[in-house]
Amino acid sequence: NIQETVTIKDNTYKRDDYTNVTDKIISLVGRNLHTTPKHPLSFVRQKIVNYFYKSFVNARGNPIFSVYDNISPIVTVEQNFDSLLIPKNHPSRQKSDCYYINHDNLLRAHTTAHQAELIRSGLDNFLIAGDVYRRDEIDRTHYPVFHQLDAVRLKTRDQLFPNDDVLKIFDNKNKTCIINGQAKQDCHTLEACKLMEHELKSTLVGLAKELFGENTKYRWVDTTFPFTQPSWELEVFHNNEWLELLGCGIMIQSILTNTGVTDRIGWAFGLGLERIAMCLYQIPDIRLFWSIDSGFLNQFNTEDVNKKIIYKSVSQYPQCTNDISFWLPQNKSSPYASNDFYDLVRSIGGDIIEQVMLVDQFKHPKNGKESHCYRIIYRHMEKTLTNSEVNVIHKQIETAVRKQLGVTVR
Ligand code: PHE
Repeated sequence: NIQETVTIKDNTYKRDDYTNVTDKIISLVGRNLHTTPKHPLSFVRQKIVNYFYKSFVNARGNPIFSVYDNISPIVTVEQNFDSLLIPKNHPSRQKSDCYYINHDNLLRAHTTAHQAELIRSGLDNFLIAGDVYRRDEIDRTHYPVFHQLDAVRLKTRDQLFPNDDVLKIFDNKNKTCIINGQAKQDCHTLEACKLMEHELKSTLVGLAKELFGENTKYRWVDTTFPFTQPSWELEVFHNNEWLELLGCGIMIQSILTNTGVTDRIGWAFGLGLERIAMCLYQIPDIRLFWSIDSGFLNQFNTEDVNKKIIYKSVSQYPQCTNDISFWLPQNKSSPYASNDFYDLVRSIGGDIIEQVMLVDQFKHPKNGKESHCYRIIYRHMEKTLTNSEVNVIHKQIETAVRKQLGVTVR
């Protein structure tokens, strides 16, 4: 009974050889934790929105940023990748990293997927918040669905250089934008790029201090994104370690020209809400955000988004550990990927899966067969699991990997 279609939130899509979204993931679409009242992820979103509302106002004192937090996470490959100039062979496009609905559609891997269409619709200053979907490892800081917030700010020449008639955004000697190293884009004048960099960085340092406190230590790290140049990451020092807070940069000019904007320069950034909420509220495990248990939710039962809350563990229930070893299939046309195994474990075990680790791998010297051994750590967030409960699920996982991934359990 091979199904021909996938249905997500009343929309039906044709399956093809790209389809890898699971029922477990589909069941999470529409939870909207980032807009759920009194949810820690919603508090973090509101704090950031409030910071932008108060930092950027027009002559009448009204906020200039508009907020989009209700855009469907189902996007096209064009939105998620092409509109952002992400190369066709870029690793982030791989099936092993994304939840594809089919060749043309996927669950967005970042909220940046919407920046081009919002610019095209005429906006100059906006925030996008939403759920994003990525295939990844399983541990206390990774969950296949998490939440991001992106921002874009575009400025005209007159906005960038008020009271000046001479300075320009674009350097006409270099009409086409050349992109080299961590330098500015060739089409931008140095003064335009530097002024934008300054506003971007001071806005984001202000945000970091707003969230983590006035005396927060921070540092800028050079990086690259296909859609910004130059690009940076902001790290803050929290609990004795450097924490990557966000990625940002000056938008690649052709993203703007492709949407019909020819007279503005832009900056953009994107950040993850979970990591910030885990630090602010000392939440130890990312699965807790999905909890519907009152032991978790009641601790955030306040109207005040700025209330200082320290999460108190509902008590740590014990872990159960169980290993699984198997020979990988020797099929070169559809190679085995660990992320396929992780998804399958998550689909069957659900949120009692705390972590999955590849603990051993080897190649048989004679027949060349490869073996993987994974350790699966089971822990319920709100009760003690019995060995027999775990064994039932572990057996189901064994059966499923055999059937669905073609491995030979040892
Ligand atoms: N989309 C990037 C990410 O998910 C973040 C980013 C957004 C970086 C906008 C630069 C500009 O990591």
